[in-house]
Amino acid sequence: MDSSDTKDLRFPENFLFGVATASYQIEGGWDADGKGENIWDRCTHEHPEFIADRSNGDIACDSYNQYKEDVRLAKDLGSHFYRFSISWARVLPYGTIDKINEAGIQYYSNLINELLANNIEPVVTIFHWDLPQKLQELGGWTNPNLAYFFQDYAELLFEKFGDRVKWWITLNEPGHIARSYTTKDLLLAPCLDLRHLGADYMAVQTLLKAHAMAYHVYRKQFWKLQRGKIGITLHTFWYEPLTNSKEDAESAESAIQYDLGIFSHPIFSEQGDFPPIVLKIMEDHRKSSKLSLPFLPSLGEEWIQKIKGTADFLGLNHYTTRWAQPGNPDWWLPDLNVTLSIDEKIPGAKSVWLKTVPWGLRKLLNWIKNSYKNPPVFISENGFSDSGELHDVGRIDYMKKYMREVLKATVLDDCQVLAYAVWSLIDNFEWLQGYTEKFGLYHVDFNDPKRTRRAKTSVNVIKQIITSRQI
Ligand code: NOJ
Repeated sequence: MDSSDTKDLRFPENFLFGVATASYQIEGGWDADGKGENIWDRCTHEHPEFIADRSNGDIACDSYNQYKEDVRLAKDLGSHFYRFSISWARVLPYGTIDKINEAGIQYYSNLINELLANNIEPVVTIFHWDLPQKLQELGGWTNPNLAYFFQDYAELLFEKFGDRVKWWITLNEPGHIARSYTTKDLLLAPCLDLRHLGADYMAVQTLLKAHAMAYHVYRKQFWKLQRGKIGITLHTFWYEPLTNSKEDAESAESAIQYDLGIFSHPIFSEQGDFPPIVLKIMEDHRKSSKLSLPFLPSLGEEWIQKIKGTADFLGLNHYTTRWAQPGNPDWWLPDLNVTLSIDEKIPGAKSVWLKTVPWGLRKLLNWIKNSYKNPPVFISENGFSDSGELHDVGRIDYMKKYMREVLKATVLDDCQVLAYAVWSLIDNFEWLQGYTEKFGLYHVDFNDPKRTRRAKTSVNVIKQIITSRQI
């Protein structure tokens, strides 16, 4: 596909462009100034063998000290907003509000002020995977009480920063968080293998409740004065039927209902609750496990009502597409009789899971529009990994193609897309892949104690798209 089909199209004037990062992946300062330990500190220190290059986020990009430089880079790019996350254990070392770390509050306050001074809108993710270790010792997200601790934490952030922050994202990719309690194919800290106990579904329920509770606190106690927006960020692949058979189409539809719908349906659908197909899968799982698992499948009427409608926008992280057909379950969607595949012929990124399939994003945006009455969508992540080349041709190709699909979905299909964020501003710690996969628009030299940043070729391309609103 070339540019010919979008050359006359322009992103609307109020469409926002920006970049995204997350605390553990960039900050470093892992034990600086009273920060508490989180599950990533613990996992990388105790099990360096889990990380591809045995690295960790102890120093990462040193953004704890160099946040002003990050803001300068975002500004140079022409970003309208900067999406970053707050490290829970930096502000609450033990996860609970009985002990607040003022130095942590000060750090984020400084970052927010620096952004505003540069005319960049802060978009704050309240939780991007770095759970305080103490809360993990209580069972982490499998413990329903986490929803209450999360509510207290969110309330503190609204109180301290809500005068200046107008965009809040409660949770980043709760589906990944739930999986981190269940899979042998290690995915994320706490790297547990408790699927047989239904740990993923326990976490799903706690995460949904935590999100909804934070939303209600914001709307009831802060919104009148602060007037911000609050949403949640969900990840999904696009699922494309492998062939044009009816069976493959059904498999693809059930995959998206399961992967995205398990969180989006309770929040964005008119009826609330999990999608019917997920309820059935949960019920089957409960039966086949032979355990009583009394919490499956339903959230209960009270929670269904409390969760329904609790988002001003749907934050969407999307990178690539999977092909679906009936068959043995994939580890990604383990209770679903759908086989997923990747088309190896398609060019892709350094990350093995990431192929360049731009049209998947347009189809996904249309699926969301049609399933949930065209809700506002904030594309909170989209991006491409390589080995960190300065002349990043693979990224440029990927970004232009994906942004073109966003443009078409917005202008031609009337999908209500508000914003688009590139993952990521700078190269950073890519979880279990350590520093072996780089997603940044700016290169970071991890051998240099100064963590010097340098613009890659893609910076100019993105800058040009942002200023012209055309591709
Ligand atoms: C999703 C996550 O939110 C982010 O932390 C991660 O680095 C990117 N995807 C790339 O895998």
